[in-house]
Amino acid sequence: MNKTLRQAVIAGNWKMNNTRVETKALVEELIPLVKDADCGVVVCVPFTNLETAVALTKGTNIKVGAQNCHFEKSGAFTGEISAAMLVEMGVEYVVLGHSERRQYFGETDVTVNKRLLAALEAGLKPILCVGEMLEDRENGITEELVALQTKIALKGVSKEALKNVIIAYEPVWAIGTGKTATAEQANEVCAVIRGVIAKLYDSDAANAMTIQYGGSMNAKNAEELVAQPDVDGGLIGGASLKAPDFKAIIDAASK
Ligand code: PGA
Repeated sequence: MNKTLRQAVIAGNWKMNNTRVETKALVEELIPLVKDADCGVVVCVPFTNLETAVALTKGTNIKVGAQNCHFEKSGAFTGEISAAMLVEMGVEYVVLGHSERRQYFGETDVTVNKRLLAALEAGLKPILCVGEMLEDRENGITEELVALQTKIALKGVSKEALKNVIIAYEPVWAIGTGKTATAEQANEVCAVIRGVIAKLYDSDAANAMTIQYGGSMNAKNAEELVAQPDVDGGLIGGASLKAPDFKAIIDAASK
């Protein structure tokens, strides 16, 4: 697969970290550090910090993402945020189907698909997360499971709309655990996902698809991971909260 056909993207998933004051400090620290990046740079911040992050990054190469959105346009969904509300704020990306949402907040492949369709319709670029639990890997069903998650999440997505989707392969056992998948394991599953895209759409769509790896990616292991032929950058949790570490990962993806 030809890596030059697609852009590597390094996205920080801040999760439930940083107040507005801390957001301002971290984004201001990042702006000069990553200005020469030769890859896409995104920070996915808590809802309450989106406005701050969008204002600070205006005119820079840093894009802003949210960490979820609801599938309905409006209505009686206490605590939820619609895709249009994010777009109105100047948000470009949205993480969907993160394993923490699936594990702790009851999200399923079906609700992830609904959120993805709503996000695309509103003009957001979803970062769709898929990945297996340790038990699934031990049972030898990683490939089938990730393929299934991908297929269900993309149901109803046209080839044109797919251009706005990024997929992040995140083995659940590697998230926040310090246990990274080996570069071979990461590449293997990213290649499976690319194969699924080729079957669902065609090889052009598969070649153009940005497929990230996520799960304990850090300043030290990023270079080997992002150098893999089917790995197009990363979705970074812990290491995205420290500007020098996030910069080191961006530098690795810019090579
Ligand atoms: P981690 O998180 O880098 O802290 O493992 C990745 C993620 O959850 O997206």
